[in-house]
Amino acid sequence: MKKVNIFTDFKIKNIYIKNRIVLPPMVRFSLIGNDGYVTEDLIEWYGMIAKSGVGLIIVEATAVEESGKLRENQIGIWNDSFIEGLTKVANEIHKYDVPCMIQIHHAGFKEKISEVSEEELDRILKLFEEAFVRAKKCDFDGIEIHGAHTYLISQLNSKLWNKREDKYGERLYFSKKLIENTKYLFDENFILGYRMGGNEPELEDGIENAKILESYGLDILHVSSGVPNPEYKRQVKIKNFPKSFPLDWIIYMGVEIKKHIKIPVIGVSKIKKESQASWLVENNLLDFVAVGKAMISQDKWMEKTRKEFSLRKKG
Ligand SMILES: Cc1cc2nc3c(=O)[nH]c(=O)nc-3n(C[C@H](O)[C@H](O)[C@H](O)COP(=O)(O)O)c2cc1C
Repeated sequence: MKKVNIFTDFKIKNIYIKNRIVLPPMVRFSLIGNDGYVTEDLIEWYGMIAKSGVGLIIVEATAVEESGKLRENQIGIWNDSFIEGLTKVANEIHKYDVPCMIQIHHAGFKEKISEVSEEELDRILKLFEEAFVRAKKCDFDGIEIHGAHTYLISQLNSKLWNKREDKYGERLYFSKKLIENTKYLFDENFILGYRMGGNEPELEDGIENAKILESYGLDILHVSSGVPNPEYKRQVKIKNFPKSFPLDWIIYMGVEIKKHIKIPVIGVSKIKKESQASWLVENNLLDFVAVGKAMISQDKWMEKTRKEFSLRKKG
């Protein structure tokens, strides 16, 4: 097998990704107002991260409707007036030859997912489709469906929470329909990504979901956390997490899921050091490693990583 490292390039369809480090979606609350529009500060921040040399940026959770925001200060994509600002974000990132996807999100409702009406879910499905169309108009290189972290789609994907008896009771029906209805948008220049919970609630459910999602025609899968089993009081929310695994349990889920599917997998959680990211990529445990909080707290993370990588290769 070809030897790879974190600075090995990758191609998804026509999209060229220069290395394996990804900025995961992170709502930059402090840089955004309450109206859902992109700000100059936000554009500047994404520009800075792109300039630092990451391979791929996934722009933060962007709401398909105002009432579907997770907090007041979250950006939106629920009508065409958002296109101008979001296009500026994509253009700023592209200045540095970095491709960018945008995460499309609905935070869910106050009532339990099993009590939301079928018509309401049909309506939200349409909102997601419209958001994808807008994202493409904004020149993003793809979208990421937010199917993790106990938000609307994660709730529907969860064996624990989705007790519906209608069509949405089929666990991945919402995602399946959404992908089927929007297939026409995903040409060679537009990537379809999905962020899923590796634990829905156990890893074996995550593996099952990942295989089914792959069969719907995804281009890339991003493994994070889902609806946890409330019986777990400890930090690791799956059974059989091997003590010998040197990194976080969420990364472990990405590594395990990758063994069962063929599309590229992004893993995430608590990666701080070059050596951690390199271990994952060089051993083909993951295709991409997302670095979140470390990238926010150290804007020179990529520079430092590049230096550490060169030193290690020399030494
Ligand atoms: C401030 C903040 C905002 C976040 N916003 C999002 C988001 O918009 N969408 C999402 O899927 N995850 C979001 N996350 C989760 C991150 O993408 C990532 O999975 C998590 O921070 C773990 O990675 P890390 O340890 O490298 O930071 C957010 C995390 C933080 C700290």
